[in-house]
Order: sequence, then C-alpha cells, then structure tokens
Amino acid sequence: MGQHISEDLDQAIAQAVPEEIQSSKNTKKLFIKTYGCQMNVYDSERMRDVLAPVGYAPIDTPEGADLVVLNTCHIREKAAEKVYSELGRIKKLKNQKAEAGEGDMTVAVAGCVAQAEGEEIMRRAPVVDLVLGPQTYHKLPEMIAKVSRARGERLETDFDTQEKFDLLPAARKPNGFAAFLTIQEGCDKFCTFCVVPYTRGAEFSRPVDQIVAETRSLVAQGVKEITLLGQNVNAYRGAAPEIEGGDKWSLGQLIRHLATIGGLERLRFTTSHPRDMDEDLITAHGDETKLMPYLHLPLQAGSDRILKAMNRGHTYAEYRDLIARVRVARPDIALSSDFIVGFPGESEIDFERTMDAVREIGYGSAFSFKYSVRPGTPGAALPGQVPEDVKSERLARLQELLAQQQTDFNKSLIGKTLPILVENVSNGNKNLFGRAPYLQGTHFDGDPSLVGKMAMVKIETAGRNSLGGSLVEN
Ligand code: 5AD
Ligand code: SF4
Repeated sequence: MGQHISEDLDQAIAQAVPEEIQSSKNTKKLFIKTYGCQMNVYDSERMRDVLAPVGYAPIDTPEGADLVVLNTCHIREKAAEKVYSELGRIKKLKNQKAEAGEGDMTVAVAGCVAQAEGEEIMRRAPVVDLVLGPQTYHKLPEMIAKVSRARGERLETDFDTQEKFDLLPAARKPNGFAAFLTIQEGCDKFCTFCVVPYTRGAEFSRPVDQIVAETRSLVAQGVKEITLLGQNVNAYRGAAPEIEGGDKWSLGQLIRHLATIGGLERLRFTTSHPRDMDEDLITAHGDETKLMPYLHLPLQAGSDRILKAMNRGHTYAEYRDLIARVRVARPDIALSSDFIVGFPGESEIDFERTMDAVREIGYGSAFSFKYSVRPGTPGAALPGQVPEDVKSERLARLQELLAQQQTDFNKSLIGKTLPILVENVSNGNKNLFGRAPYLQGTHFDGDPSLVGKMAMVKIETAGRNSLGGSLVEN
C-alpha cells in the first residue's frame, strides 16, 4: 500500500515539474531548516515531498548541501533576526563548497520572513538565490530550474493559497505515526500585535475532500494521530462535497467526519481563537472519543483594557465562561494558552490580571512571550511601550507560575493508566517514547514492536515536561 501511494505521489509531482530538472539522475542533497510554528513544520514536509521526485534527498546538516531552504518565522523580532545570522553561516559553507570544486549550493529563503521582507533579504543577503512566500512552495522545483538557468528572477511571493493546495499532491510520505495536516491558513482577526494577517494573508479553508484524501493517504501509511493545523483553525469553513450536502463545514463537522476513518485513532487541532469556539466544537470534545482532551486556546492577557487594545474581541469573563462550558463537556481536558507580557500600555495592575487569570483557569501547559514590536502592525504605533527590563521581570514571574501549574498537572496523572501512542525507540533510561492524550512525552519500557501502536501505561513519575511509567498488560 505504501509503495502504491508513493508511486502516485511521484507521478502527481512529475506532472507538475519541468522536464529539465526531472531528468537529473544524480541524487542531490537537500537541507531544510524550519523555524516557528507547526504550520512551517508541515510546509517543510511538503517541500521535501515536492522536491523528492526531482532528485533531492534530505540531509540533517547544511554542510555540502546542493539546496538549502530556510523556512522562516516572522512572528517576533528575534525569530526574524535568526534568519540573517544563519545566512551568514550558510554563506561560508557555500563558499567552501565552491572552493572545493563540489558545485553550487542554492540558497532559498521561504516562509513568513520571505513574504514580509523579500526585497530586504535580497539586499541584505546576496548569498540568497531565491525567496519564496508560503503560498508558492508547489513552484519550488520550477524556481530552482530558473535559478540554475539564469541565476536571476529570485522573488516569488504570490498570495494564492488555493493554488498552493490544489497543486500539492494529496499523497504524501509521513515520517512517523503522528502527523500535521494544514486545513486552514491566514487570519482575518487583526490582533494589533500580530503580523500573521499580513504574512499569511486572508483566511482560507481547504475543501473537505482534499483533507479527507490527505488523511486517508496518511492513515494508509500507518499514521494514527493527526493534528489539524491553521493560524485560526476553528474559523475553518471548508467546502463540503455535493453528496454530503455541498455546504460549508465547520471544524466540528470536519472532525466528526474524519473520526469515521478507520485506522485513525486520534485527532487534535491547533491553534484556535476564543471567538470561534462554537457549540458544536465544544460538544465534540465531550462525545467524539477520537478528539483528544487537550485544547490550546490563547488568552494573551487577563486585563480587559489590554484585551481591547489587542483587538481580541472578547473580555476575560467571556473567556472564563467559555472554558467553563468546555470543562462541562470534557472535565479532564488539559488547557493551554499563549500569553504576551508588556503589550503597550500594560500597567502592573493589568499584568496582575494576567496572573489572576492563570491562577483561576489553571493550565496544563502554555507559551509566553515578551511583546515584540512588529513594524506595520497597529501595536507598533501605540503609546506606552513597556521598557525591556519590565517585560523581562513580568515574563519571569508569569513563567514561574506556568511552570508550577504544568508540573502540578503532570503530577496529577500519577497513578492513572493512559493510552500512549508509541512514537519511537528512545535511548534514555526507558526504551520507548510516546505521547499521552494530554500531549506529554511519556517514557516506559516495552518491546520495540510496540512502535506505531497504542500501549496502556500506568503513570508513575512526572516532571515538568514529561511522564514516566510502566506498561500494563492488556
Ligand atoms: N510579540 C510577542 N508575541 C507575539 N505573538 C504574536 N505576535 C507577537 C508579538 N508581536 C504570540 C501570540 C500568539 C503566538 C503564536 O505568538 O501569543 O498567540
Ligand atoms: Fe495573529 Fe490574532 Fe490572527 Fe492569531 S488571531 S494569527 S494572534 S491576528
């Protein structure tokens, strides 16, 4: 079955690829470095898929690569700056390769930095051969061909999300038993701190049948768990096939449909917006057994004044009530959030509201960041920018609280027996590694033949980031 799918994949891509690069017989070395969110992880996988039939095989380090792709993130200033320092290192490797007479290293910058500052990258980093935005990956083989023909035409930052997904083949080669699947891209929410609406464009939902085809292909190759991805995944409104009513489906409807696919055992989704948590999605957490008891629902800040300035479109009380409804549907759910400290105008009292909110809700995990000024966003122009040392001090306090909650949540699982999806053999002091329903990495001893299967594990130890336990005989 796997073989059959990979032939389909090769064929599908071959049709979309110019002949002069298809015909190259020698394997070329491809190094992709991924920054930022899981959607970039997904996109990097798809770039590997699209480049495999034209002779590119992935390697783990950039030394000696024929093609280097940096798949970049623009969400915070630090993330964007990392790209330029990496390009400095790549430049040395490119020169070494040329001096050793080993041929050209083609350097591509992809992702959100490419979309946001394509022109600037080319000016600042002449080592870069081509720049391509997130909606143009299906054109990568063609662009590489152009570069090798002319070493000209370096910029491709279209905004046609539909074309990207139409031209990427449904079949793909997963590299494990848990896979990401992008179902939605872009965002229309315009939070005042965020670049996403500018780098990924307007909201776009992939049609249901495309997603079903990709899911089936993954499951046929052994995938047991799929995480549905989108910048705003619960705003999903995808065209359904005629036979299913031909309407637009919500995320809840899509999840219920995917859950009927035999062999698929777990579904997750990320990342969502509180304003798009509809009743159907909430109840799905209660009655759809394949939907895992884990919800990443960013709050960002606890003060209503700051939530308003951020243009989040809800108050803290509304968020708290929403969480209460989710907990009625699924009492054991693990909650997760993103937080920003030091948004312009945030006072000590505002920050304390965030701390209060964390204490009241109780999170199983969370991500927290210092506000980073993003040029072109409304937040950048706001008065009352918070000094760096104040942001650092607030972030440290918040992270201490969140770390404590995460540890407490993990410890609360001690004594429970949980289904673990075994992902690989590990070389720690326990030989198997897998994921719990609440997403924690879990270590235990067992036969390596369990990899790719579900195992029941009694939890005995818990740290901040992982669990440990023993296999329970069924
Ligand atoms: N500064 C700091 N954090 C940010 N995020 C988005 N934009 C910024 C910014 N300008 C955070 C938000 C979002 C997460 C993906 O990144 O918390 O939910
Ligand atoms: Fe950015 Fe807000 Fe859209 Fe999330 S909802 S991607 S934070 S603008």
